[in-house]
Amino acid sequence: MGRGLRCLLLLQLLGLAAVAGAGRWQEFLRLPSDGGKEEEEEDAVGTRWAVLIAGSNGYYNYRHQADVCHAYQIMRKGGLKDDNIVVMMYDDIANNPDNPRPGVIINHPTGADVYAGVPKDYTGKDVNANNFLAVLLGNKSALAGAGSGKVVSSGPNDHVFVYYADHGGPGVLSMPGENDYLYANDLLQALKKKHAAGAYKSLVMYVEACESGSIFEGLLPTDIAVYATTASNAEESSWGTYCPGDGQGAPPAEFDTCLGDLYSVAWMEDADAHHDGRRGETLQQQYKAVKNRTSDEGTYMLGSHVMQYGDLSLGPQSLDLYYMRIAANDDDEAGAAVRGHAVNQRDADLIYFWRKYRRASEGTAEKVEARERLLQEVGRRSRVDSSVELIGGLLLGSSSGDNNNKVVLNANAVRPPGQPLVDDWECLRSMVRTFEAHCGSLGQYGIKHMRSFANICNAAVSHHAMANAASQACTSIHPSSQRLIN
Ligand SMILES: *[C@@H]1O[C@H](CO)[C@@H](O)[C@H](O)[C@H]1NC(C)=O
Ligand SMILES: *[C@@H]1O[C@H](CO)[C@@H](O)[C@H](O)[C@H]1NC(C)=O
Repeated sequence: MGRGLRCLLLLQLLGLAAVAGAGRWQEFLRLPSDGGKEEEEEDAVGTRWAVLIAGSNGYYNYRHQADVCHAYQIMRKGGLKDDNIVVMMYDDIANNPDNPRPGVIINHPTGADVYAGVPKDYTGKDVNANNFLAVLLGNKSALAGAGSGKVVSSGPNDHVFVYYADHGGPGVLSMPGENDYLYANDLLQALKKKHAAGAYKSLVMYVEACESGSIFEGLLPTDIAVYATTASNAEESSWGTYCPGDGQGAPPAEFDTCLGDLYSVAWMEDADAHHDGRRGETLQQQYKAVKNRTSDEGTYMLGSHVMQYGDLSLGPQSLDLYYMRIAANDDDEAGAAVRGHAVNQRDADLIYFWRKYRRASEGTAEKVEARERLLQEVGRRSRVDSSVELIGGLLLGSSSGDNNNKVVLNANAVRPPGQPLVDDWECLRSMVRTFEAHCGSLGQYGIKHMRSFANICNAAVSHHAMANAASQACTSIHPSSQRLIN
């Protein structure tokens, strides 16, 4: 809330309030190998595998890769071997010119380096939706030439842990590449295929992203031994944390960016705290602890609704099956519990651009550049918002008085809980392609509008009508002016 005021103030300072439209601003500134034979013990539980993926790039998204590096350290501390951990991250943070601590990444204001030792399995453009699915499915041939080629070649006794951190929108998770999204139905298809192949005993997936509940809501079956938790429900943002300006939770002064995400840091600091020898924490217990922290102790003064999906009968399973240490007799440093404020994921980059602007000295080229960048992002958001709004109005607005469905008369309508975002995923994909062809890339901010495209599909609007509406709405906007900031 303090942050919201700060950002609005910033806009006024820059004379941008009029451009952006106060209502819209309020909306998005809403605040807020197989070791199984070696040890008896491993045989008992099968091999433990992990896939850790950060779907963003850009220094202002520092926190997603910081989360994933931290997760890697937890997997190693828990006894997983590098052969069984696949890390996918763009890897443009540690050595980024903006990084005040070259070669180091932290995920807590007083935290130690989490970057050391992280395997570079898939970096840069190899971090994409197709490669992620191939890694998960153990499809080596699909990865020919990409990264380390490491995949999850798990068998029927194995346990798989998947952790994703990034931006998302209804029904999609972001990837670093422009126009590359992981659609929920592709993920679900892969999970079903892996289950049908007998390629795991159980699989746990943790997802940090805005509207991450929509990835599983009404989609994840309860009978394929997959248990998932998400940072947020299907309709809300997830939150960054350890952000500049957050009092005792703020990063060291030289950092202009958030160091972590709230749900992510909540599960990982919980994991760190339980590596101290207190064994046997269960999935369900961790879910409760994470939900408590991510909801500001149930008050929802900030934060989001952590959700559970899929086979909830796995809840009593011990985390030892996935990533906790099996033979626990080590001491460990549990990160001091610092509770900061949190920032809506979608605002975190604005904070970074704003701080960069403020930090630059008056009259320098750097200052001018920082201001340009900020204005560019603000303008881009405003254009995406208004074009989607216009298209939604054209297609579903007042004139949708057909005799057919009255199911969705509003581009922002939310289906009842338990129903998937959309029935025809091919339609969703195609509507998004059409939009992007006329109006430019949605990008990590614009994917918040996925629900509008889903509703256009749910209302059985023709592809032709969508193309007309998009060309009408975006005719005055040259697509090249919509280029992504990263
Ligand atoms: C692996 O990926 C390739 C290329 O995408 C595909 O043709 C093949 O069917 C996949 N194999 C399996 C077992 O899924
Ligand atoms: C939530 O967390 C707070 C702070 O750690 C703790 O005092 C409280 O008991 C927790 N509540 C629940 C329901 O676990």
